[in-house]
Amino acid sequence: MEELSVASIEKGLTTAFMGRRIIYYRSVGSTNDVARELAVQGAPEGTLVIADEQTAGKGRLGRRWLAPPGTSLLMSLLFRPHFLAPRQAQRLTMICSLAVVEAIEAVTDLAAAIKWPNDIVVRNRKAGGILTELGIAGERLDYAVVGLGLNVNLDWGALEAMGELVAAATSLSQELGREVSRPALLWRILENVESRYRRLRAGELPHGEWASRLITLHNHVTVDTPQGTVEGWAEGVDADGALILRLYDGKRQRVLAGDVTLRKR
Ligand code: BTN
Repeated sequence: MEELSVASIEKGLTTAFMGRRIIYYRSVGSTNDVARELAVQGAPEGTLVIADEQTAGKGRLGRRWLAPPGTSLLMSLLFRPHFLAPRQAQRLTMICSLAVVEAIEAVTDLAAAIKWPNDIVVRNRKAGGILTELGIAGERLDYAVVGLGLNVNLDWGALEAMGELVAAATSLSQELGREVSRPALLWRILENVESRYRRLRAGELPHGEWASRLITLHNHVTVDTPQGTVEGWAEGVDADGALILRLYDGKRQRVLAGDVTLRKR
């Protein structure tokens, strides 16, 4: 299976700017942290920070992101989305998660979906996640770092050894029964992100397409939010990515962040 390196990535890159500047590490703390430092130093849009191993990988809501060395895509992309207000930043995450599910389907033939807000799901198990971090300048975004962790070539043993959330986790190789080329996935992801980003910049809203890929909608759900737990019917999402819940007392609630469990009722 092809290793990751600047040369192996550049070889098949078809993009104009996404991933055209590559910072590769065999091992690093967190690719998101490096990308944020580079953003502050003025690095250009499309800068890709990618590693074979992270020693301090970060997940959403303050969690860790674990992945054995050489098994995964652990990467962060730098955007300069000055056309977006901070509350619209989830639009970037939407285009990236759409880019990832489409790349998985193109490269592997597996069906992939999204669990609100940013989980990449294959056969109802989590194969990846996205962590977006922002730099804000007044009313606008100065930069956004979109970090992706995708379990590519991990078997059950490796997933179990990671300990956390294993029951709900999977990898592409686990579901497919064979290894998957990380460079091939990466090329496709970058290509998809670039074309979707151009469309976003031109004013196209991604939430309709994103909603059609969400396994969360039209289900009874429990959402653990930083403010507490809410339960209801997942009715839809809005243009900024909030989950619209119909509570059981009939009221509507907009949820911006949290973990969703789908329930039978
Ligand atoms: C989640 O909790 O589902 C989001 C996980 C995001 C993990 C990726 S791995 C590459 C990038 N660097 C990090 O420290 N985190 C993100």
